[in-house]
Amino acid sequence: MKAAVVSSFGTAPRCEEFPAPFPAGDDDMVIDVIAAGLHPRVRSQADGSHYTSTGELPLVPGIDGVGRGADGLLRYFILPGARVGAMAEQTVIDIRRSIVLPADSDPVAVAAAMNPAMSSWVALRQRVQFQAGQNVLVLGATGNAGQLAVQIAKLFGANQIIAAGRDAGRLARLPAIGATSTVLLEGDSGPLGQTASEVDVVLDYLWGEPASGAMIAVVTDRADRGQPLTWIEIGSVAGPTAAIPSAALRAARLQIVGSGQGSVSSREILAELPALAEQITSGTFDIDARPVPLRDVEQAWADAARTTQRIVMTPQPESLGIKS
Ligand SMILES: NC(=O)c1ccc[n+]([C@@H]2O[C@H](COP(=O)([O-])OP(=O)(O)OC[C@H]3O[C@@H](n4cnc5c(N)ncnc54)[C@H](OP(=O)(O)O)[C@@H]3O)[C@@H](O)[C@H]2O)c1
Repeated sequence: MKAAVVSSFGTAPRCEEFPAPFPAGDDDMVIDVIAAGLHPRVRSQADGSHYTSTGELPLVPGIDGVGRGADGLLRYFILPGARVGAMAEQTVIDIRRSIVLPADSDPVAVAAAMNPAMSSWVALRQRVQFQAGQNVLVLGATGNAGQLAVQIAKLFGANQIIAAGRDAGRLARLPAIGATSTVLLEGDSGPLGQTASEVDVVLDYLWGEPASGAMIAVVTDRADRGQPLTWIEIGSVAGPTAAIPSAALRAARLQIVGSGQGSVSSREILAELPALAEQITSGTFDIDARPVPLRDVEQAWADAARTTQRIVMTPQPESLGIKS
């Protein structure tokens, strides 16, 4: 079968022949992959930098996707970090880590949105007891996950939704999808502290220096320092480490937690998927996705570094009505 194959870390995958996978356990199912998202998590899987990497090569990247098995049902699936990932004509899924989708679902939209949407959906449902009427700050709101976080906070009934990012143009588009205010992140974090002085939950996609600057600003300007503030670390596009000022933890009722694979169990993540998939398939969210055939995977890798549009590899373009 054809697959996107990584033969050395640091080099983009190439579309090559790869041995077809076969089921090993009772719950395994071979699936024809229709769509698989090229998420940042997939890029870090493919370059060996993700914390779950075993360093084994060759590998086929892709951590989730949409496909159809012998039972004919359309499924969204999550893979457990297997070496034969989703960017192949076929992969093997554990049926317990999949959900059946309505037959008329758009596979590209689902493959594009589930991973970035899950980040805030799971965080707000599993890492904090989020209540309608609370205030949310999305730190790093201009990417796919950040834009979906704004929309999911709105869906969950947030009062203030403060969207912060470094790109003024993209930031300006966020009020249309639910942001009640926007803050441009540039040098001085002062304006962020003033705007977010009553925030209850921070969904942090940045970490690094912007997170520590934001934390000081938010705590310094806090209207009521006894009001609980939960800072949820979700992504680290600005840096893997952040200097956390000890005073921030003492001067306000701040707790820092993470949300991701490990800090939330597979069982807890899977429990959230049907409701999230329902929102995606019913068109609740604004999703910017571009399908790309598997043969163009090298170009897709180069493009992914330059665009915030979510690229979705389509190993079986005919099943989407696209000529191969
Ligand atoms: N823990 C989880 O469950 C989970 C799930 C999904 C994703 N994530 C993580 O969430 C992060 C975002 O994912 P994504 O899918 O949204 O990626 P994405 O679509 O590529 O967006 C990343 C955005 O980050 C912005 N950015 C990069 N460096 C920045 C900086 N120094 N300061 C401010 N903004 C910066 C870029 O915006 P501009 O270029 O417009 O500034 C870009 O749009 C990644 O780290 C990903 O691994 C975590």
